Amino acid sequence: MTSFKAVKIKENVWWVGAIDWNLRNFHGYLTPRGTTYNAYLIVDEKIALVDTCKAPFADELIARISSVVSPEKIDYVISNHVEMDHSGALPAIRNAAPNAKFIADKRAVQDLNRHYKSSWEFQTVKTGDTLSLGKRSLTFLEVPMVHWPDSMMTYCPEEKLLFPNDAFGQHLASFERFDDEHDLEDIKREAKKYYANIVMPLGAPATKALDAAGKLDIEMIAPSHGVIWRKHLADIVSCYKDWSVNKTKAKALIVYDTMWNSTENMASSIAEGLTSEGVETKIFNLRFSDISEIVAESLDSRAIIVGSPTLNNGMLSTVGGFLTYLKGLKPKGRIGYAFGSFGWGGGASKAIEAELVATGIEIAMPALDIKYVPDDNELIRCFEAGKNMAAEVLKRNG
Ligand code: FEO
Repeated sequence: MTSFKAVKIKENVWWVGAIDWNLRNFHGYLTPRGTTYNAYLIVDEKIALVDTCKAPFADELIARISSVVSPEKIDYVISNHVEMDHSGALPAIRNAAPNAKFIADKRAVQDLNRHYKSSWEFQTVKTGDTLSLGKRSLTFLEVPMVHWPDSMMTYCPEEKLLFPNDAFGQHLASFERFDDEHDLEDIKREAKKYYANIVMPLGAPATKALDAAGKLDIEMIAPSHGVIWRKHLADIVSCYKDWSVNKTKAKALIVYDTMWNSTENMASSIAEGLTSEGVETKIFNLRFSDISEIVAESLDSRAIIVGSPTLNNGMLSTVGGFLTYLKGLKPKGRIGYAFGSFGWGGGASKAIEAELVATGIEIAMPALDIKYVPDDNELIRCFEAGKNMAAEVLKRNG
């Protein structure tokens, strides 16, 4: 007997997931507010469990299921996604629900057995296949690369309920399960951060998945992380539509590190130039700022301007780390340029520019280099560079 209880999300449909208050890093994405691993139990003539959770939370999952039915009564376990934050408790569930049939798409079957060094039997499903539970049914929709090649969504037409796994999620630990129990702007902000750090490189598959899901009649979206969308569906779907096509606005990010404040002073003057022309601008010093927050801000920014002083003929490692992270997220349709101070040989801005090009960012202006410490005239050059960049931002439509 434990205190973990299921949460009813619809009549005979329950959230039975786990809350991870302590998660602070999800493969490089910093998660200061923790997360949840959402799993769902549908109790009909047949009983189905949609997804599991991370392995250390298996007891919590089983306890929440047990608050509704004995896990032994589960008939079907659906794996929408192989990644171990959703499949980690599968071995425990196989023991707790020995009579259950396990269901996944073809790619997931292969990859789950590879992950768990097993030869488990599965019922393999593909897009359009349905499973009757009695009064309700489940339909499967393969959505490769949202987030891994195996990813799948499960839809219950009788409840107008979509289980999209990673899509529409947020890394947010909370006892409140529904969107309308939170401040909308706060959860949209977390959804934006999640999209930028997890889904951004997968814009084309996400668009395809959105199109397919758009044909379904949906009144609730129950993702595998964070809150369940029941009131603000239109808001979150509209956000996903914008993000998946890289819609940006007249906004610039300036991201830098500094050695003796020269690059920092350049950053401030460039920002003044940008804002003087009405371009929304945010500045991040990488020594104090979390790169996961910075890429969240990049999602709707048209310009990404990156600065570093030269160290050993290259950029500071903080700037290199940020650019490596950004490159993996493949932002599209952005412009940028490089700047920084140097002492003798230089090299930082050239190295930054090369990384921006490799990321697919269009170089809108030549790099700006200042020797040692900028004087007043050089800071005016930085201000003018900001104004010129503003003109580039404003002439491009988002
Ligand atoms: Fe939440 Fe791709 O795992």
